[in-house]
Amino acid sequence: MSTPRTTRWRDHRSRWTGCDLCPAICAGRKVFGRGSLHPDILFLGIGPGEGEDTLGVPFVGPAGKILTGAIEFAEKKTGWHPTKFWSNLVLCRPTEGHSNRDPSEDEIENCRGRLRELLEITKPKAVIRLGRLVASHAPVELLRVQAIDLWHPAAILRDRSRTSGYQDSMARAFGTLRGRIED
Ligand code: URA
Repeated sequence: MSTPRTTRWRDHRSRWTGCDLCPAICAGRKVFGRGSLHPDILFLGIGPGEGEDTLGVPFVGPAGKILTGAIEFAEKKTGWHPTKFWSNLVLCRPTEGHSNRDPSEDEIENCRGRLRELLEITKPKAVIRLGRLVASHAPVELLRVQAIDLWHPAAILRDRSRTSGYQDSMARAFGTLRGRIED
């Protein structure tokens, strides 16, 4: 059965599907997001990578596996299973040749209205910003909700020795947010 939130989500997707504000990257898929439309936590990444562009779903590639592992670790450690949503600063995969690149300032700006709408529709109770680029381009004034900053999982792909530290930091973030959300 349709609820107002699912109706708004469908409407949001159909309006942004035709977006062509970023000519260098918008020929690929729009990767809108996945998860609960009533999230305790919104995980906000940078932009889709190759696997995400192929499947149309965020965080399904190698960085996504690191993130999922850290979330599973945190759930086990804290016993808390928050509802979650995953999305990115930009909808489309920024590429340089065949490689991923960071989105440009203009591309992030072009996608800000879409991100604002996503936040209005899903009303997350907290946001986990993944990486410095996200922390600096998704300020609390935009999010209008508490935020915790963690490394982007791609940093762990580059240096696997950080895996357990990353998982611990996710568990600490869950502990903090649980206390705030359930109060
Ligand atoms: N990295 C991101 O920032 N987002 C994704 O969806 C996948 C990899």
